[in-house]
Amino acid sequence: MENVKIVKGGPYVVTGDFKLNMLSGEVKDVTGKTYLCRCGYSSNKPFCDGAHVKSDFDK
Ligand code: FES
Repeated sequence: MENVKIVKGGPYVVTGDFKLNMLSGEVKDVTGKTYLCRCGYSSNKPFCDGAHVKSDFDK
């Protein structure tokens, strides 16, 4: 079972195995702990690249 945690001012942290349907049509099998960008500043979307730290995103 997957677990999703919302980090204030940071990403969604998804724990577990799931399929990620990319905009390109590619389907990625994701395992373990995955950090998904919520702030919109990542240059590696949909993944968090840590850019939120230097942003004003605080939701
Ligand atoms: S939440 Fe980390 S870069 Fe967007």
